[in-house]
Amino acid sequence: ALAAMDKWLVGAVDQGTSSTRFILFESNTAKMVTHHQKEISQIFPQEGWVEQDPVEILHSVTECIDETMKKLSALNLKPEMVKAIGITNQRETTIVWDKVTGKPLHNAIIWLDARTSETVEKLVKKTPNRDKDSLRDKCGLPLSTYFSAVKMRWLLDNVDEVRQSVEKGHCLFGNVDTWLLWNLTGGLHGGKHYTDVTNASRTMLMNIHTLEWDDELCKFFDIPKAILPEIRCSSEIYGYLMETCLRGLPISGILGDQQAALVGQSCFKIGQVKNTYGTGCFLLNNTGNKPVESKHGLLTTVAYKLGKEKPTFYALEGSVAIAGAAVQWLRDNLGIIEKSADIETLAADVDDTHGCYFVPAFSGLFCPYWQPDARGVICGLSQFTTKQHLARACLEAVCFQTCEVLDAMKKDSGLPIVSLQVDGGMTVNSLLMQLQADLVGIPVVRPAMAETTALGAAMAAGMAEGVAVWHIDEDPPSAQGAYMFQPRTNPEERAKRLSRWKKAVERTMHWEL
Ligand code: G3P
Repeated sequence: ALAAMDKWLVGAVDQGTSSTRFILFESNTAKMVTHHQKEISQIFPQEGWVEQDPVEILHSVTECIDETMKKLSALNLKPEMVKAIGITNQRETTIVWDKVTGKPLHNAIIWLDARTSETVEKLVKKTPNRDKDSLRDKCGLPLSTYFSAVKMRWLLDNVDEVRQSVEKGHCLFGNVDTWLLWNLTGGLHGGKHYTDVTNASRTMLMNIHTLEWDDELCKFFDIPKAILPEIRCSSEIYGYLMETCLRGLPISGILGDQQAALVGQSCFKIGQVKNTYGTGCFLLNNTGNKPVESKHGLLTTVAYKLGKEKPTFYALEGSVAIAGAAVQWLRDNLGIIEKSADIETLAADVDDTHGCYFVPAFSGLFCPYWQPDARGVICGLSQFTTKQHLARACLEAVCFQTCEVLDAMKKDSGLPIVSLQVDGGMTVNSLLMQLQADLVGIPVVRPAMAETTALGAAMAAGMAEGVAVWHIDEDPPSAQGAYMFQPRTNPEERAKRLSRWKKAVERTMHWEL
């Protein structure tokens, strides 16, 4: 229980791809006090298209805040203890709305959505050497269906309402952080149209060196600067909540969800790496105050800037599109498990995959391949292959994809990686964690508190100037009670399995040709 007056609470909205959460943390100790969660409906209008309703996203947030506050009062704790809230969000997801009506002009186009593959092809043709990497020196990213500028280009080319609204000067663009901030701080009545540097670094429109919208990039994509939000740092008071029972509270932290997890895991030292296992897998390696350009298919991204006067930290990121989503596929499409959690016991029924490899390249491959036309394969099947082997191959696929990203990180940074800090929904699966340690050959460290993404946003909000109820210290709360999975394999065995995996990956390539 909390001692009444000297403890403060900080809230974090974690708006992810599959659900929204609001969590209250005790400042400094990072103890979770209470929370509420709501699923988000996924809309699949066509194969490869993924949308969500921006209004549903917004309502899920206000509902989660109000429900959490009811739970707080049931604990006999006062709402006045809450001093600030932070926002962390699914990144790249693109929302456009009309600032006069406040209404969205289209459904949110989700980061995973691959409708823009032709847009990408056209854009690549526009570059001097027909090279998808030609904008990397400015924005750190390759041309891909993944990023917001490409999605925004598609909206301008295909949706009349969006084009007209831009012409009238009514259209606003945002990622989920911006949509939420604008609405929560007043919407039509003075809502703040801001984003933070981490979210902006995923649009392809921000220059990662200057941290400003880049004229050349905006021109390349032909996106008017007037629709873009103002770029702020990740920890400052952006505005005050005008909605929910927490009305009047400052919103003082914004980080893209993967960057928030890096902060929540206290990966503040150069070389520290975290991997979040969710719908996809996202590995971030803190590279310090200078952006490192990747030669091995990784992304260069802003990690955090925790205060206007604080330095900017950068990261190399490896994004894997399909991780937990492959388990859902075994559940929903093949029906070999009833609940996602059942995969652990099914896969534990066998000692190995009996030579079966499963590459879930459902909508192409992200890091390090960037192949939009790759499609999934299951190979190495024999008379003896069972659903148990397939379940295990699915878990191994998550681990192999992680191994390939870590390998690219070592090559890019020239530094060894000594351990891997993990978080996200799938990390409750201890078999997966052990397989990960076995396949990568370094210890895998799982914190006792799984909500590191929300924690990162709460830390950013709590430490902001004018709030200052959270002080980052050397002994990170996330390290307390952590569990370490040690590898139990030798290098030869690892190399053999990884080379088989790579052979399987080769078979996914250029499937659409
Ligand atoms: O880049 C996409 C990422 O931010 C999505 O994260 O946790 O919502 O799957 P998550």
